[in-house]
Amino acid sequence: MIESNAENIDRIVTPTGVDPVYFENKLRPETLENFIGQSSIKDNLSISIKAAKKRKEPIDHVLLHGAPGLGKTTLAGIIAKETGVNIRITSGPALEKQGDIASIISNLQENDILFVDEIHRLRAVVEEVLYTAMEDFGIDIVIGKGPSARTMRINLPRFTLIGATTKMSMLSSPLRDRFGNVFRLQFYTDEEIKQIVLRSAKILDCEITDEAATLLSRSCRKTPRIANRLLKRCRDYAEVYSKSIIDEKVLRDSLNNLGIDSLGLDSVDREMLSAIIEKFNGGPVGLNTLSAATGEAQETIEDIYEPFLIQIGFLERTSRGRIATQRAHDHLKVPFRLI
Ligand SMILES: Nc1ncnc2c1ncn2[C@@H]1O[C@H](COP(=O)(O)OP(=O)(O)OP(=O)(O)O)[C@@H](O)[C@H]1O
Ligand SMILES: [Mg+2]
Repeated sequence: MIESNAENIDRIVTPTGVDPVYFENKLRPETLENFIGQSSIKDNLSISIKAAKKRKEPIDHVLLHGAPGLGKTTLAGIIAKETGVNIRITSGPALEKQGDIASIISNLQENDILFVDEIHRLRAVVEEVLYTAMEDFGIDIVIGKGPSARTMRINLPRFTLIGATTKMSMLSSPLRDRFGNVFRLQFYTDEEIKQIVLRSAKILDCEITDEAATLLSRSCRKTPRIANRLLKRCRDYAEVYSKSIIDEKVLRDSLNNLGIDSLGLDSVDREMLSAIIEKFNGGPVGLNTLSAATGEAQETIEDIYEPFLIQIGFLERTSRGRIATQRAHDHLKVPFRLI
């Protein structure tokens, strides 16, 4: 069996993973106004935040879901900043016992935010505590054992839970139902990514031409995290070759150097598509077989490579397996054969 490396995979166009803190923090917008795109989410949030501030109450619990690197953590920070409250950050797998979550919440101040990343990875016992905490701002604890056992309710401060997940389908429905606000982050348009590139370039104090920013925005897999990462690599490239500005030539050269093509695919994406096209006649090919043929773990294929390829219409997931589409054939310049 091939071991999954979905967690620690090291690929420049992988949307997961955290860049060095100094870089991430500098580029992370801190206000709704500076957060580019996702306009319907911003509109809704801005209303909820204003209303909650007026009532001096915490805002309703918020669930943010969407692919990695689209801005879930960033939004959680913005909500806290705009509401003027503290945010305590933890994650599903970090909460092992009921006591862990109970002590975190009871140490919050009124109206504070608890951010639980990867909330789909919460243990069932911890999740149960959250139900009453979210609904009634209380926790029931059982004292004693057997017939003399009794339950005692501990009151908690009124708080807002912000949950983030990349896997909405893995969230239990009782938990999902307890969020008053559920927002799905969409992939960004090329124009939005271009704005993010230009904003980040300004913060990083590196010059980039408008044409280069347009070109770069097409190679970022519609994902801000990748946009920032690629911009940083281009800046390195420009620095090494003593260019004072990232123009089209510098951009093309540095992306070529990284093996990233005009659509943001890297060599692994291309190898996977070529395997489907050349070894399996374009598909359908089962996930097992594809995993064996490419040497990539099934989970890695499903979580990291596939979502974007499906999003841009290069891959189809059918009950019989994966199929490379006409578009994928065209991009790789292989004749398409109808099955
Ligand atoms: N709308 C945006 N405008 C500008 N920059 C953004 C935006 N969204 C995200 N970013 C940038 O992309 C980086 C990644 O975003 P973030 O860490 O919030 O993603 P995430 O959805 O939490 O990802 P993960 O699922 O991996 O935790 C941020 O550090 C920020 O610099
Ligand atoms: Mg995050």
